[in-house]
Amino acid sequence: MKKYILITGGAGFIGSHVVRRFVKNYPDYQIINLDLLTYAGNLENLKDIDTLPNYTFVKGDITDSDFVNKLFETYPIEGVVHLAAESHVDRSITDPASFIRTNIFGTFNLIHAAKEHWKGAMEGKRFYHISTDEVYGSLGATGLFTETTSYDPQSPYSASKASSDHLVRAYHNTFHLPVVISNCSNNYGPNQFPEKLIPLCIHNLQHNKPIPVYGKGENIRDWLYVEDHASAIDVIFHNGVNGETYNIGGINEWTNIDLIRALCDVVDQQLGRAQGTSRQLITFVKDRAGHDLRYAIDSSKIQRELGWKPSLQFEEGLAKTVAWYLKNSEWLENVSSGAYEKYYEKQYHQR
Ligand code: NAD
Ligand code: DAU
Repeated sequence: MKKYILITGGAGFIGSHVVRRFVKNYPDYQIINLDLLTYAGNLENLKDIDTLPNYTFVKGDITDSDFVNKLFETYPIEGVVHLAAESHVDRSITDPASFIRTNIFGTFNLIHAAKEHWKGAMEGKRFYHISTDEVYGSLGATGLFTETTSYDPQSPYSASKASSDHLVRAYHNTFHLPVVISNCSNNYGPNQFPEKLIPLCIHNLQHNKPIPVYGKGENIRDWLYVEDHASAIDVIFHNGVNGETYNIGGINEWTNIDLIRALCDVVDQQLGRAQGTSRQLITFVKDRAGHDLRYAIDSSKIQRELGWKPSLQFEEGLAKTVAWYLKNSEWLENVSSGAYEKYYEKQYHQR
């Protein structure tokens, strides 16, 4: 008997790396990838594995409770890895409602369906909620977020993620739903939608367009290569303790401006441009409203208890990332031009 694992948001950036890892590493699992294919979801991300027998794609909306319940009736789901979300802070400032719907109501629909369908048979089940370090708010120059840092979300995005974390914990406390949660820092790597800093910069640099740096570029983020996040998710899903939270980070803090300068130099090197060419495109623009100053993660718990640590140094990860985007410029052009919607129509609606 195959074990059915539901991964939500599997056509997105991190989700696609998680789906690939689970499909390849666990042939005894039947992986159901549930994704609405919003602007951020792209089945192209999974074209290397989408014909494998232990992979099934289902298009659907986690905010639709009837649909979510039907999915649990159709498949004997034993585990959920929940990544589907609205994920971009800037969009949460211009359109908070979609974040409330997807991140809060969507998560509620999933945990409630899991509770109802697993009632009386929780043994061996697991609901894994993927969250962000942004729920902890903003740090000053020193200190690290630990698993016991109080929540202090500052943007509609982080407030919606904090709310979903609380709901998941409440379902563990009240209904004994077997849950784990992880809170991770900024991911980078292949297949990230070019609204996020690193792919946006690479895309603009390719086209000799200005690099928009918010404020003075002094904000600090901790960066983790996306495959290292996927490996942490694998370890937590299989070995994490129910009811526990794990912080995941890269031990890799950069100010935005230093990161952008390093990125410019890698792009120059890989495109054979004279060093310093790309840095001339750096442009300081109006700051993000409520811009969190610094995120930094203490990931000692997952290292100590589950034996996970990041595998890649940032220099290596950045070089791999730039190489991927330059090699896959068609992917970048398609997601930035809306051509992907046509691709989906052709692939699925004509069958
Ligand atoms: P993403 O925006 O690239 O992908 C989100 C995916 O969810 C897309 O495929 C989209 O189509 C799907 N989706 C959105 N709304 C949906 C709905 N209503 N029903 C079904 N599917 C829907 O996001 P990402 O960067 O890969 O982030 C994935 C998860 O990891 C999110 O929960 C995010 O909060 C969390 N996270 C992200 C980062 C990061 O740096 N990107 C860091 C820590 C945690
Ligand atoms: O910390 C984890 C979070 O990291 C995730 O939960 C989010 O889903 C993910 O989007 C990311 O949030 P950030 O806001 O940190 O990522 P973003 O790539 O949007 O921005 C990174 C930093 O760069 C941030 O300080 C804002 C700045 N920035 C961003 C963009 C898009 C710029 O200076 N210019 C830009 O054009």
